[in-house]
Amino acid sequence: MSEDVLFASALVTPSGAAPRRGVDLGSPTVVRDAALVWRDEVIVYAGPAAELPAELEVEATDELRVRGAIVPGFVDCHTHLPFFGWRADEFEARLAGRSYRDLQGGGGGILRSARLLAGASDDRVLDFCVPLAEEMLARGTTALELKTGYGLSIEGELRQARLARRLASEIPQSAVVTLLSCHAVPEGTSREDWVEAVCTKIVPGAASEGLVDAVDIYVEDIAFTLDDLARLAEAAADAGLPLRCHADQLGASAAAEAAVRLGARSADHLNNASPAGVAALGAAPATAAVLLPVSTLFLGAEPAPAVALVEAGAAVCLATDFNPGTSPCQSLPEVMSVAASLYRMTPGAALTASTLNPAWLLGLDDRLGSLEPGKRADFVVLDADDVAMIPYRPGHNPVREVWLSGRRVA
Ligand code: NIG
Ligand code: FE
Repeated sequence: MSEDVLFASALVTPSGAAPRRGVDLGSPTVVRDAALVWRDEVIVYAGPAAELPAELEVEATDELRVRGAIVPGFVDCHTHLPFFGWRADEFEARLAGRSYRDLQGGGGGILRSARLLAGASDDRVLDFCVPLAEEMLARGTTALELKTGYGLSIEGELRQARLARRLASEIPQSAVVTLLSCHAVPEGTSREDWVEAVCTKIVPGAASEGLVDAVDIYVEDIAFTLDDLARLAEAAADAGLPLRCHADQLGASAAAEAAVRLGARSADHLNNASPAGVAALGAAPATAAVLLPVSTLFLGAEPAPAVALVEAGAAVCLATDFNPGTSPCQSLPEVMSVAASLYRMTPGAALTASTLNPAWLLGLDDRLGSLEPGKRADFVVLDADDVAMIPYRPGHNPVREVWLSGRRVA
C-alpha cells in the first residue's frame, strides 16, 4: 500500500456539506503544520501533521515539505470558452463613450464573436483556446465550465458544443459544458423563432448526443425575456438538463427570482438584482448566486448586492465570466482580489466561493472543491502561508504549484 504525502505550514479548505452559506461561507478550516495524504488520486487524510494516523507511517522529510499554504484547486463555474479572437477595439470604443448595448446593436459584441468563430476551423479554435486553458491552470483553475453561445445557428451551436467537449478532452482540467444558445438572437431571425428552434431542436439534439451538461439563457432587454426563460426551463427539464440564467446584468429584469422559482441551478451576474431577487436567492435550496466582479469592473456596471446576498444566506460563487467582450480575464485569484475590494468579500469567503460552492453548482462536489477524505487530490500550493495574500496582491499570480489527481502539473 503506498500513499503520497505533502507537508505544509498551512492547509486551508472549506469543509462539510456544500454549499457553504452566510458565516460558514467565510469560515474555511485552517490547519497549521498540516499534512495532506492521498492514495490512488484520492485524499485519505487532510489535517494536522501531528495527528497523522499511525497506519499511514509517513515522515516529514524536507523533500515532502512545500513552501506555502495548500488550498483546493480553483473551480471556475462561469466562462465563455471556447471562443475565437479578441475585441480590444470594442473595449477602446467603450472607453471613448460607446455602450456595450450600443456595440451589440451595431453588429458587434456577441454577434461579432459568432462571426469570428464561424470563420475559423475547428483546429484553429482549439489552437486559440488550449493555451488560454493552460494559463488558467497556471493560475490555479483545476476545473471549469465551458459554454456555447457564439454558434448562433442550429449547426453552429452544436458545433460549438462539440468543440467544447473536444477542448475538455485536450486540457488536463475537469470541464463541464453549458448550452447558451439563447445568448443573442441571430441576425435575420426573430426572437420567437430562435427560442422555438433552441427548445425544439438544439436542446434535444445536444442532449441526445451527450454534448452538454446544462442549459443557460441571457435574460436582458437586448437578449431574451422572462417568458423565454420559462419556455427554455421546460425544454431543459424535458431533456433532463439543469437550467442556469444570466440574470439582471445590465438592467433589472426580475430574472434572479424567476430563476429561483424555476429551480435553476444558478443565477449569474446579478448586478441589478432587486431586494426580492436577493431574498429569493437567500432562501433558495438549489440555486447558486454567481458573482462576476471582473466583468462588473470591466463594464463599469452596477456592483451586485454582494454583501446582501451573503447576509441573506445565498450560495455565493465567484467566477471569471472569461469572454472577449465583458471579461477578458481568466484568473480566479484576480477575481478574488476584485471581489474583496469591490464587494468587501473576505479572503475566506472568496476561497469558498471559488472552490467548494462552484464545485457544488457544477455537480462536482462529490469529488472536487475541498480537501477532505474521499475527494480527489486536486490542489494548489500558494507562494504564501496566508490566503489573504491571494486578494491582497492583484496582478500577482499567487500560485506556486498545481496538482491534479495527486500529480504535479504546473
Ligand atoms: O456574460 N452577457 C452576456 N454574455 C457575456 C458577454 C459575451 C460577450 O460580450 O461576448 C457575459 O458578460
Ligand atoms: Fe457570462
